[in-house]
Amino acid sequence: MSEVSFKIFRFDPEKDKKPYTAEFTVPTKSGMTVLDGLYYIQEHIDGSLAFRSSCRAGVCGSCAMHINGTYRLACETQISALNTKTVKIRPMAHLPVTKDLFVDMDPFWEKYKHIKPYLIPGDEPGEIERLQTPDERAHLDTIIDCILCGACFASCTVNNYDDEYLGPAALLKAQRFFSDSRDAAREERMELVDGEHGVWRCHTIFNCQEVCPKDIDVTGSIAVLKRHLTADRFSPSLKKH
Ligand code: SF4
Ligand code: FES
Repeated sequence: MSEVSFKIFRFDPEKDKKPYTAEFTVPTKSGMTVLDGLYYIQEHIDGSLAFRSSCRAGVCGSCAMHINGTYRLACETQISALNTKTVKIRPMAHLPVTKDLFVDMDPFWEKYKHIKPYLIPGDEPGEIERLQTPDERAHLDTIIDCILCGACFASCTVNNYDDEYLGPAALLKAQRFFSDSRDAAREERMELVDGEHGVWRCHTIFNCQEVCPKDIDVTGSIAVLKRHLTADRFSPSLKKH
């Protein structure tokens, strides 16, 4: 059995004056993920290590963290795929550290709530569900795969200097509902993402897109919103899905 060294950001605001890096030696086996390594440390070396996870299958979005230079889901990252003897892990940026790799997601959720992430239909519920054609549904393909892991939010450099920027995940969700044929709040949604902390703050850096574990065209979704806002103001002929 081989071994790798885990170098992990540690910080407990209740007792540490500043963050530090702790090193652990972890025995590895075929198929072992970074999340498995963190559980090994927690169960066999240091039970005080804090991190977040749930599904262990790339579904819940809980385990996004900075692993060897980029944001990834720890449960989807096999240690062997990193091709290194050292696994360096930091918590997600732009979010307060509660403890070690465990961050407070409240600022992320506040921005998510701001864009009203739910269907706002224009009529009362009928006898059956609201139906869509295959074409109407196709507009939502891929966008709905977002698992709200926050990796895009943490990777976005605009968040470095604008705490109020809505961020890629919230804007992606705004486009998801804006593009839903059953939604009747398109004008309201446009107003929610307009302004200096909305879509116009995005500088099309593509970090969000690069780190998204679901390969979603996050930057493209923000561009869709920008195009509609521009069309509303200057040229109705620019309006397209
Ligand atoms: S868009 Fe991708 S990176 Fe951002 S929260 Fe959704 S799944 Fe995570
Ligand atoms: S634990 Fe659910 S996505 Fe990793």
